Amino acid sequence: MNSPIGILDSGLGGLSVLNEIRNLMPGEDIVYFADSAWCPYGPRPADEIQRRVFAITDILLARHCKLIVIACNSATIAAVEALRATYPVPFVGMEPAVKPAAAITRSGTVGVLATEASLAGEKFHRLLHDHADGVKVITRPCPNFVDLVERGELDGDRARGIVEEETLPLIEAGADVLVLGCTHYPFLRPLIQDVVGPDVKIIDTGAAVARHALQLLKNRCQPASPQTSCQVITTGDLDTLKKLFPQLCPGIRAELTSSHQIKS
Ligand code: DGL
Repeated sequence: MNSPIGILDSGLGGLSVLNEIRNLMPGEDIVYFADSAWCPYGPRPADEIQRRVFAITDILLARHCKLIVIACNSATIAAVEALRATYPVPFVGMEPAVKPAAAITRSGTVGVLATEASLAGEKFHRLLHDHADGVKVITRPCPNFVDLVERGELDGDRARGIVEEETLPLIEAGADVLVLGCTHYPFLRPLIQDVVGPDVKIIDTGAAVARHALQLLKNRCQPASPQTSCQVITTGDLDTLKKLFPQLCPGIRAELTSSHQIKS
């Protein structure tokens, strides 16, 4: 068996990154870990997120993952540097796409939607300092978006109402680019685009993260075969995963299991 790529998130949001990785590297085996019992990470303190992410990393490494994608902005902010200093495998992290957004805005105002944990981190402030000079950046945590995705509620009146409430104030404040700085949010992208209109650009980093992972594998990946596997492990409710996985990852065949391995 080939060593798999490990992917982790607080829940199902990182499946948006799994979709990009499967598109780009259809032959790579994948083990995805969803910490849905502890979702959301966004409001949790950094040391708690870090403890969870270290425990999940141990589980992924016990399955011989050759590379780990932290498909969670909040977990990246809280833990990526400590992980790199501790484990010998390469880690790919996420960060809100402030730099490309600052490069394409015409109004000079960019909206960043992300979790509280991501927006509060020192790393995010450095990102603004380094890449958003002269651009007005308005930030907005959207915990309700995470909840919508964890329920598989990607459209309908209630979801539209929540998306309007979170995004329209940014558009009214002049933003012509919205950055989706949380891996759950791309699943709401069609609805967000419909709400904000076609003139507003929406950016997320899933595809770029998949390309970075491929580079770290030295641009060599396994050929697709009927044996290529995808295993999804959740600390949350297995029936919910079984119901939502085909909706969030259409066309991907996966073995879905639950984990009770992490105690705290
Ligand atoms: N998907 C995650 C992120 O990118 C976390 C969402 C949450 O658990 O609050 O930050």
